[in-house]
Amino acid sequence: MSFPKNFYWGGATAANQYEGGWNEGGRGPAMTDVTTGATKDTPRYVTYKNADGTTGKMSMFGGTLPEGAEYACLDGYHYPNHIGTDFYHHYKEDIALFAQMGFKMFRMSISWPRIYPNGNDEKPNQEGLDFYRSVFEELHKYGIEPLVTISHYDDPLYMEEKLGGWQNRETIGLYEKYCHTIFEEYKDLVKYWLTFNEINSAIMAVSFIPNCPDEIAKKGYIKLHNQFVASAKVVKYAHEHYPQFKMGCMIAGMISYPLTCDPKDVLANQHHMQDSFYYCGDVQVRGAYPGFARKSWKKYNLDPGFFEQDKDVLKEGKVDFFSYSYYATSCETTHKEAKRDGAGNMSMGYKNEYIQYSEWGWGMDPDGLRYSLNELYDRYQVPLMVVENGLGAIDVFEDGKIHDPYRIDYMKAHVKAMKEAIEDGVDLIAYTPWGCIDLVSAGTGEMRKRYGFIYVDMDDEGKGTLNRYRKDSFYWYEKCIKSNGEDL
Ligand code: BG6
Repeated sequence: MSFPKNFYWGGATAANQYEGGWNEGGRGPAMTDVTTGATKDTPRYVTYKNADGTTGKMSMFGGTLPEGAEYACLDGYHYPNHIGTDFYHHYKEDIALFAQMGFKMFRMSISWPRIYPNGNDEKPNQEGLDFYRSVFEELHKYGIEPLVTISHYDDPLYMEEKLGGWQNRETIGLYEKYCHTIFEEYKDLVKYWLTFNEINSAIMAVSFIPNCPDEIAKKGYIKLHNQFVASAKVVKYAHEHYPQFKMGCMIAGMISYPLTCDPKDVLANQHHMQDSFYYCGDVQVRGAYPGFARKSWKKYNLDPGFFEQDKDVLKEGKVDFFSYSYYATSCETTHKEAKRDGAGNMSMGYKNEYIQYSEWGWGMDPDGLRYSLNELYDRYQVPLMVVENGLGAIDVFEDGKIHDPYRIDYMKAHVKAMKEAIEDGVDLIAYTPWGCIDLVSAGTGEMRKRYGFIYVDMDDEGKGTLNRYRKDSFYWYEKCIKSNGEDL
């Protein structure tokens, strides 16, 4: 057994980190447009202006905007998402490069504020609709199937600032309106949709802030629930109106192991996986909260009635396939002497001595990919997609060439792991590695943390020609796709 004949090989991106053109074509601002660049050791901030003209900043992982303040770009800061790596002006060139690698699928997101600049506008922005139409047509020219994330970290700023974002249930209706517009507009061009990127990121704070305060946890669970409801509503709507659509969830692969075989560690790890990962898959694939959800609600003093009021909606909006991002694994333990030192943007697990770590401290673990694919398929029994995977690394650009054997090694091992999972009986249908072309890092806002097969000349200060160059991994992936994963 090997990769199926019609396997979707491809790559993944997101508008907020790649598209740029932030204030062109009638697009409104998004939260990421007021988020500063940073490094792996310094945090990204969201900036604002107070009513009295003074300015301020707060962590991008949440905070409360002071009374009367408005989000704003401030002098002296760099906002890398404004340009991303400029897909907006380079899409034809980029898609031609993806086609040269042999892509069968391209994951991208639609920027909500490019369609509805404030989120609650009466009519959609025609220029925005036209832009994505041109992109989808360009993809089809090469036989590349779009995989579209409807919401990937760029909700309209106005909606966040004035309407309270996902804390406010009105947002569900705005999301539905946005979806109805894009479904109708692109019904003949897009078949595969993901309702929210890494929906579990709403409650990540719960796992990475030690003893997360009730208030922060509460906000996270409310946001997540409202997003579950929004997702279920549009999945149901899509099934009723566009039977050709395939609707998927997208969950950050919070995969962890017990650090020791102490049964207490095994239990701690089980709870971690349930709370941060299965909590979401169970709702979106099975259509109901799992039994263990009550544990979290109780822990953070949340009223079960709030979650149960939408029981029927969740049941009616089950997704058709499961997708997740897979970069790294971490460990969980109850042994206090162990050091919690992180593995990935959103997990603060313990280090695993059996695996290697990237320059950004992400635990590289191809076997964990095979393991998680098996676990997920056993649990959900629906087709799976790995829609993000890859190695963020510093590349050296010399004479127009980039030699990236480290990336090739990483990719090789992960493709092999997927092949083994397919041999194990897993129904895996797509692989779209992250940042197939260099783009801005979500966690740090850096450019130097590159994932691409294609190098983009742009640095951390936003300087560069934006010219594109093929890395060695470009040719490796081309060969991999051509041989349907056989020639690695
Ligand atoms: C995922 C996100 O969490 O990880 C992407 O969906 C993100 O948006 C990716 O870019 C990699 O993280 P980072 O911080 O290296 O960009």
